Amino acid sequence: MQRPIRAHEIRSRFLNYFAARDHAVVPSSSLVPANDPTLLFTNAGMVQFKDTFLGRDPRPYKRAVTVQRCLRAGGKHNDLDNVGFTERHHTLFEMLGNFSFGDYFKPDAIRWGWEFLTEDLGIAADRLVVSVFSGEGESAPADDEAYELWTAYVPKDRIYRFPAKENFWAMGPTGPCGPCSEIHIFHGDKAPPDAGVAGRGPAYEDTRYTELWNLVFMQYEKFDDGRLVPLPKPSIDTGAGLERLASVLEGVGSNYRTSLLTPLIDLAKRLAGAPAHDLGAGEAPFRVIADHARATAFLIADGVFPDRDTRPYVLRRIMRRAIRFGEKVGLENLFFHEVCKKVVEEFGEAYPNLVERAATIDEVVRGEEESFRRTLKRGLRLFEGAVTELPAGETAFPLGVAAELYDTYGLPIDLTGILSREKGLTLDEEAVKQEVQARQAAGAAAANLGGGDKAIDNLYFRFKERFAGQASFTGYAELSGRGNVLALAVNGVEQTAAKEGDEVEFITDSTPFYGESGGQVGDTGIAEGDGLRVEISDTLKPTGDLHVHRGKVTRGTLEVGRLVTLTVDGARRAAIRRNHSATHLLHHALRAVLGTHVAQKGSLVAPDRLRFDFSHPRPITPSSACRSSASSTR
Ligand code: ALA
Repeated sequence: MQRPIRAHEIRSRFLNYFAARDHAVVPSSSLVPANDPTLLFTNAGMVQFKDTFLGRDPRPYKRAVTVQRCLRAGGKHNDLDNVGFTERHHTLFEMLGNFSFGDYFKPDAIRWGWEFLTEDLGIAADRLVVSVFSGEGESAPADDEAYELWTAYVPKDRIYRFPAKENFWAMGPTGPCGPCSEIHIFHGDKAPPDAGVAGRGPAYEDTRYTELWNLVFMQYEKFDDGRLVPLPKPSIDTGAGLERLASVLEGVGSNYRTSLLTPLIDLAKRLAGAPAHDLGAGEAPFRVIADHARATAFLIADGVFPDRDTRPYVLRRIMRRAIRFGEKVGLENLFFHEVCKKVVEEFGEAYPNLVERAATIDEVVRGEEESFRRTLKRGLRLFEGAVTELPAGETAFPLGVAAELYDTYGLPIDLTGILSREKGLTLDEEAVKQEVQARQAAGAAAANLGGGDKAIDNLYFRFKERFAGQASFTGYAELSGRGNVLALAVNGVEQTAAKEGDEVEFITDSTPFYGESGGQVGDTGIAEGDGLRVEISDTLKPTGDLHVHRGKVTRGTLEVGRLVTLTVDGARRAAIRRNHSATHLLHHALRAVLGTHVAQKGSLVAPDRLRFDFSHPRPITPSSACRSSASSTR
């Protein structure tokens, strides 16, 4: 029996292990991805490095290690429906990851992954099994190399081969991706050999095993049409769920019984007057509340507030689910802010922005709970009434009532889905969405006309869906080039033309304009054509290849389909490049003078200035800097 290791110690051991192997310790980035408005949330540790893998955002380090807050509640990786009902799913969780950007590859990733688990954390090797990619199609062959490497550590009959569904990882429909190898733990003393029985083993939801760590061998960039193009340099992206490791190392057998979640569950139970002992299936509502309180507090700390659209709506759904589960276990009064406050207490040391935003978290949570509570009871009565009135034999909850519950009582559609399932009924959630859209057509159009960031966010989502993979950036080679207008929007609303005087955003199939990314400001310049002039005041990069030009039409009309000449303000770009180089020099100098722990936390690169954020445990004094500088140049 191994000595228990608690979650907070796992975090620091992980960082130390990889820091000792020359990895820069990079802070967790925000849950709202900084350079990808089309991705709902940071859903993996690699998100902040996406463009680095693609060779478009070079970093001053080639190895990095992070403990990254992640959210999987919408989009490609979505665990929301499982939360509370399994031992291991969450909306928000912490992912431990080590990364190589064209530096080390499979042999070191496998060796370190194995050694960290078995030697540093002391997990019995007999309990571990691994999987490798079995290949799919010609462009993605079987990963025999990983198989061979694993044989140095694991008996062959505990190395599984799985297809792409299990062992090929991609961040989203496009972007960096590659075959992966997973390390799973068997919940018993010794993992049995692979019996070759389909549907058994460490995949396919076989609960005798839990996946602990995913090692992704980033080798390709995936495009919309399914093409896999090799990356400039093969790289490593790994992810291990802290909650799952804690479940094993604290010896508790469930993420929800770890030191990460129990303080929250215990508090919710106390508030509800529920018995402290394990309630079996009766734990689920408290687990949902605990999980959702974490997601809520972290999201608000990262600047997301509950509202009607996109990210804010995901948060609203999460909050309202939690509040309704509270109602179900008899929490009649405002309670959710108390659980969120506990999140701040428990996680504030590791994530100081929770403490900084504690007052906002409290205020926003109370506000949302108050407004939802005003209608929740009546909504639930309407729901119950509709169930009682169902004709005998009817198993589907009526769409119209679900739409009304959403519209009038603020009950998220998926929540009505949960309520229906609890009654043994089905709900076609997609059909309810359509019903709601039909009812709100006029209202929705009005909401979109309001413009502002929300509408623009949606616009980027739509642009990405239609045009990702269709545009190229030529700005490393030229400052002026031609491109066809693929789409445009005026005040955040998509149009087919923009006339003189309009504030416009547009994308082209080719552009030399650099889009704001990783702290570097976007290019400015002009777009011209016969009788046309658009002054471009900024360029944004919502995804790897979509560059959105923002500006004003000062002459003529800009139309979709029109060919324009795009010319970057070259003097300004040159000044930005100088400051970009200066950032690298400064980073290098700081590492030489203060030590290699100096990692970039953020930066601003503009034509007239640069800012470089980094962490250093002590104040920097002129004398300490001079001393270490003298020794480093000897
Ligand atoms: N990016 C990989 C994952 O999320 C490690 O599983």
